[in-house]
Amino acid sequence: MKITVIGTGYVGLVSGVCFAEIGNTVTCVDKIPAKIEMLNHGNVPIYEPGLQEIMLRNVEAGRLSFTTDLSSSVPESDLIIIAVGTPPLPSGEADLQYIEAAAREIALSIDGYTVVAVKSTVPVGTNERVNSIIASLTDQPFATASMPEFLREGSAVKDAFNPDRLVIGVESQQAADLLLELHTPLTENLVVTDIRSAEMIKYASNAFLATKISFINEIANICDKVGADVDQVARGMGMDRRIGASFLNAGIGYGGSCFPKDTHALIQIAGNVEYDFKLLKSVVEVNQSQRWAVIDKLLDSLGTLKDKKIAVWGLAFKPDTDDVREAPSLEIVPKLVEFGALPQVFDPVAADNFRREYNHPAITYASDALEAARDCDAICLLTEWGEFVNIDLAEVEAVMHNPILIDGRNVYSADRIKATRFDYHSMGRPS
Ligand code: UGA
Repeated sequence: MKITVIGTGYVGLVSGVCFAEIGNTVTCVDKIPAKIEMLNHGNVPIYEPGLQEIMLRNVEAGRLSFTTDLSSSVPESDLIIIAVGTPPLPSGEADLQYIEAAAREIALSIDGYTVVAVKSTVPVGTNERVNSIIASLTDQPFATASMPEFLREGSAVKDAFNPDRLVIGVESQQAADLLLELHTPLTENLVVTDIRSAEMIKYASNAFLATKISFINEIANICDKVGADVDQVARGMGMDRRIGASFLNAGIGYGGSCFPKDTHALIQIAGNVEYDFKLLKSVVEVNQSQRWAVIDKLLDSLGTLKDKKIAVWGLAFKPDTDDVREAPSLEIVPKLVEFGALPQVFDPVAADNFRREYNHPAITYASDALEAARDCDAICLLTEWGEFVNIDLAEVEAVMHNPILIDGRNVYSADRIKATRFDYHSMGRPS
């Protein structure tokens, strides 16, 4: 199958590379020449384990190419995938200008029957808008489809090849057949539905996962007060298959480019039809206040943060990514600075991205986790990178001024902590 993918962000690039890997001929298009140049030189503009290797293999095999000009590949394509960004507007609503611009450009180039599938996360009704834009500009036959993406950053390649389910929203059997053929090698769990439901499945899924996280975080806060252990509670809950064990890790709340954006957007979508989504509003509120649990625990242990050296382990919103969008670090580190602390921060890959978003003379950028901890009054672990999880805690304790450890992700077992002198505080587990 010949495919054009518009947008080379996480979703577009990973999809393009993976569709090439299963034998299709894929052209990835992006408006930003520097990105295309980088890709044409074999470099991946995002940090995503395993992606570069597969990309290079498919470029070599002649199945994958990159261009800024969609008119070079669209006329020959059977399928066009729109995977451009839908950043939030100040109101929380998704900004659809890039989707609409892509639809206009596609309309000017399609030649013969083409399926145009939207992979970007878009509000209900957007595919119909794409359809009417294209129809108003061309007489060529086409069909639109919704193909929401469920991959996670950091495990995007694995997720793309082993999806829990694939959702395809279509309006015609012809479009359904083409998309089913494309996905044949990938999964048995297909949901073929109408376009509006497919669009809604994406928002509802992310909102539900965010709800699980805020729920377990509130349970953790209560566990802290009643002396229960949230890990044990989550384990016991998760064994009920109706609840499920995943996304019950308590901590400092969710971040990233998806959950914060999509929860706000769904609240807004509901508001547009005069529905007050109270539950989701609370989920967002709980997530926000959860950030301050780390600061509260530091204040409880140290009394004041003024002139205290605080190591911050992890700046990315989660491990295995350099992405700091909506990362807890971007709220917690400025708060530390505001309280007069001297943060010594370290992240294996996200420090540059963090520095671009927030910088302050009080911050020191350390070269590794041990350096960040040196002479510190406390450590705050914000991202559960493997190198923090597996670090020799005795060695860390030895270089600190005061061995206090605030574990924002509940990564250390009681046994490991018992072997040290750390004054240890986690989220919803007995100290
Ligand atoms: C999320 C969804 O998991 C994907 O299915 C979806 O495709 C993607 O959004 C998207 O809409 O594009 P992602 O944002 O990459 O993926 O990351 P997750 O692994 O879901 O983690 C999101 C946040 O939740 C992270 O900050 C993580 O630390 C936090 N989290 C996750 C918790 O605090 N507790 C948990 O138990 C799980």
